[in-house]
Amino acid sequence: MSPAASNQAAFSADALTYLVGGVSSSFRINPYTGRPLYIQRADGPYLHDIEGRRYIDFFMGHGACPLGHNRPEIRQALAAILEDGVFAEFDHPLTVALAKKIVEHVPCAEQVRYVNSGSEGTLLSLRLARGYTGRTRVVRVDGHFHGGHDYVLGNNLASKTDRDNPGDRLSKIGPLSAGIPDVIRETLFLVPWNRPEVIERLAGERGDEIAAILMNPIDYNNGCVTTTTEYLQAVRDICDRHGIVLIFDEILSGFRTGLSCAQGYYGVTPDVCLLGKALSNGVPIAAIAGKERIMRKVMDPEDPVVAGGTFSGNLMGCAAGLAAFSIMEAPDFFPVWLRRAGKFLDSLQSALDEEGFPARVQYLGCNFFIYVGTREPIREYRDLARLNAALARTFFQECIERGVYFHTDFTVSAMHDDAVLAEALNQIRSAAREALCS
Ligand SMILES: Cc1ncc(COP(=O)(O)O)c(C=O)c1O
Repeated sequence: MSPAASNQAAFSADALTYLVGGVSSSFRINPYTGRPLYIQRADGPYLHDIEGRRYIDFFMGHGACPLGHNRPEIRQALAAILEDGVFAEFDHPLTVALAKKIVEHVPCAEQVRYVNSGSEGTLLSLRLARGYTGRTRVVRVDGHFHGGHDYVLGNNLASKTDRDNPGDRLSKIGPLSAGIPDVIRETLFLVPWNRPEVIERLAGERGDEIAAILMNPIDYNNGCVTTTTEYLQAVRDICDRHGIVLIFDEILSGFRTGLSCAQGYYGVTPDVCLLGKALSNGVPIAAIAGKERIMRKVMDPEDPVVAGGTFSGNLMGCAAGLAAFSIMEAPDFFPVWLRRAGKFLDSLQSALDEEGFPARVQYLGCNFFIYVGTREPIREYRDLARLNAALARTFFQECIERGVYFHTDFTVSAMHDDAVLAEALNQIRSAAREALCS
């Protein structure tokens, strides 16, 4: 450990001096403590901060490491790349091999183009849909998160939705971000989630202006808010009738319910999807994958959708991605992992109930959320009004104090074994008890 890192206060002061806000991403401030965590090391289900404190981690790097931190398989794959001394800038057997795996497992994937982040992916997917259809407008879901570029900010979390919308009309677009021109608003329509009739009406009236519908097939950015096959199929049918490109953002939902991602889980295939995070278990890379007839617009000899960059298809990401697939492809990998996660999350609900702590543990696949203030299911964003923000803050602070780390979205990784989960359960139970007393 470096001398500067030996003292949290001195380190924080340094961080604040040299990094704006003391962090490299504004999303790193913990929503419950109001502070960032400075991490020295991560291993399996654990984080170790710069003072040597150990946390059982349920954040798993913004959900990017569902297989667990510091997996030996991924380390070995990265080491092999270092030996070869080529990191990007050329295609290579690994860029093709990873694309082949994506095409093998992800239903909509016929061809792949790599990018370096989820945000870059959602940006490119919208440009691709516009280039392919020759239309300008994009339909987004009020409350869905898609990263940090100009077309996807504003109404990008449940807390920022149009609360006056009873669910039968388009949502009003709220504040975007300082620095985003107002003209962006004219490129968007916002619809409430799980209301196909609103999209139906919009497409009937203005379908010939709409290039794409972009949505998260599972909303883990607002905890764990799910949808139905019927809704996704209704949207699929509308897109087919009106020539609209259906885009699923699977940056967070990918590889959490199984190898075929949320589209396989629900049995509805989009035209294009975005993959990232779990694709390479935390090593930077993302991909846009979709139908060949749409993807080929990228290489249109006359009017291509420009898509490329120095680090696109970087080999660290590709090597990690292939290692991640080799782990996930083991026949009983997902059933064993998801069974263990489900058992833990059911026990967590029971423990909180026994403590008389008002909370709803909601999960799908390996991701979950603890909604504090209600025991009833959270089916739509309006249900979030039942939550108790003050109690949630105290509870999650108490968890972190006890060495169980929660941030914005919660993952039970494949390396949270029964012993780790039992320890976490005890600490969370004790945090709930304490939160009720304070
Ligand atoms: C659903 C979803 N889409 C897109 C993104 C943006 O990805 P990145 O942070 O890699 O730009 C995120 C990140 O959390 C996400 O959860």
